[in-house]
Amino acid sequence: MAFRSIATSDRSPARLTRIIRTRAELRDALDDVARPVGLIPTMGWLHEGHRALIRQARAADATTVVSIFVNPRQFNVAKDYTKYPRNEARDLEICQSEGVDLVFAPEAAEVYPPGSDTTVSVGAVAQPLEGAARPGHFDGVATVVAILFGLVGAEHAYFGQKDAQQVMVIRQMARDLAIPTQVIACPTVREPDGLALSSRNVHLSPGERAAASILRQALLAARASWEAGERSAEALRDAIRETLMAEPLADVEYVSVADSRTLRELERVDGPALLSLAVRFGTTRLIDNEPLGAGPVTT
Ligand code: PAJ
Repeated sequence: MAFRSIATSDRSPARLTRIIRTRAELRDALDDVARPVGLIPTMGWLHEGHRALIRQARAADATTVVSIFVNPRQFNVAKDYTKYPRNEARDLEICQSEGVDLVFAPEAAEVYPPGSDTTVSVGAVAQPLEGAARPGHFDGVATVVAILFGLVGAEHAYFGQKDAQQVMVIRQMARDLAIPTQVIACPTVREPDGLALSSRNVHLSPGERAAASILRQALLAARASWEAGERSAEALRDAIRETLMAEPLADVEYVSVADSRTLRELERVDGPALLSLAVRFGTTRLIDNEPLGAGPVTT
């Protein structure tokens, strides 16, 4: 089925986005497409961050595939899965306006057919930070991305640096499973006040939304301190925590200054490091990060 949109932007050629629901249709559709193929895995509720990934793919790849699948296996809290925002019609309009060739939007039974019984579990890099805070989360991510990589067989796959640990987990998974798809990391897209775009931002009340700009301010305070020569990781964590403490709505879950290759917590920052944090505003959990030195997720 082809999806036609009235709202096409200037940058998009008159390409039709094709919606695909099943593995069989996907195999057929990919049979004779122009290569290279670029895959952008998403859970929908697309925003400028996703658009940036799509544009990067469109610039490099002859065929662009966006997957839209709210993956039940990566939600460790069932309520998070049911309340995850969904609007397929709007997502399809966005894909159309960006000139996406194929949208793969399967039902759960198509991704995990009856009898499917394999979990991909990545080692050390998946354990700290989000792995510790959300048990089982990265198993779900690595499993669904391995399936998507297998189904699409893309030359390139695009992920956001906003989820820096996710990029590292997926790189490790692809390397270890000898999946030839190249994992490309793209810069975080932010609102004017610095808040990283996220599908979860929709759940913030106006007061929480205003308060959430503190995340970026906290990371930048630590960066400024590092740029001024501070090398104690604990002093940098303190700079982040102190900034966050000024915001009463911010409920801090973790603050981390870790080695960007291993994600082990540092005592001294003598090489590339990743500042990261997870903070709750009411029931909404937000994450953000800032690389120091050479980025953790360069392409
Ligand atoms: P989702 O949250 O929809 O994000 C899809 C991709 O968009 C991810 O690679 C994410 O890092 C990227 N992204 C989100 N916000 C961004 C921003 N502000 N700037 C740049 N990129 C951004 O991440 C997932 O879905 C899922 O875990 C998935 C990989 C699809 C597996 O189910």
